Amino acid sequence: MLPSTASLKQTGGRELAGIAFDEATIAARVRALGRDITAAYPTGELLVLGLLKGSFIFLSDLVRRIERPLQVDFLVAASYGADTVSSRAVRLLYDPETELGGKHILLVEDIVDTGKTLNRLVVLLRQRNPGSLNICALLHKHVAEHLELEPKFLGFDAPPSFLVGYGLDHAENFRHLPYIASLA
Ligand code: IMP
Ligand code: MG
Repeated sequence: MLPSTASLKQTGGRELAGIAFDEATIAARVRALGRDITAAYPTGELLVLGLLKGSFIFLSDLVRRIERPLQVDFLVAASYGADTVSSRAVRLLYDPETELGGKHILLVEDIVDTGKTLNRLVVLLRQRNPGSLNICALLHKHVAEHLELEPKFLGFDAPPSFLVGYGLDHAENFRHLPYIASLA
């Protein structure tokens, strides 16, 4: 059920066009991803690294479906540099406290759009000599020209609209919605 338009306007949001993925659909997919991830890492140390803020709800549901020992940490990344997109670098505002060397790193992202954020993070994380590096993305728009690393684990192919909810925001609003909706 969509929240009332009036209450969303009051929180500074735009209106929602409709639900793209409802709670039950997300829960079933997250369960399956948890099974796939459990099976993919039979041995070794697993560090699940959530990219904040967008992944916070997805990550918290996902790790509860992974049935093997793991550690959780987060990354906060920000772009900086000259105006041209190609010259922008990524800077870590919060760097994981946990040692990455030799561990299986699973980077958890809310949505892959142009892929620029992920591409820079992948280069940066590879410099820390992890045992392996993979990506788990909740959504993928499939519009990126080049991805350093395709998500090994993917929730859903995203429709071509702007999506909010389940961690995803528009101007910091809508992250708390338990479903994923498209903006009108
Ligand atoms: P990229 O570097 O272009 O792949 O940007 C990815 C980031 O942009 C995601 O982590 C989101 O924070 C944001 N983003 C891209 N598309 C959407 C969307 O449809 N809804 C909400 N956030 C989005
Ligand atoms: Mg965002």
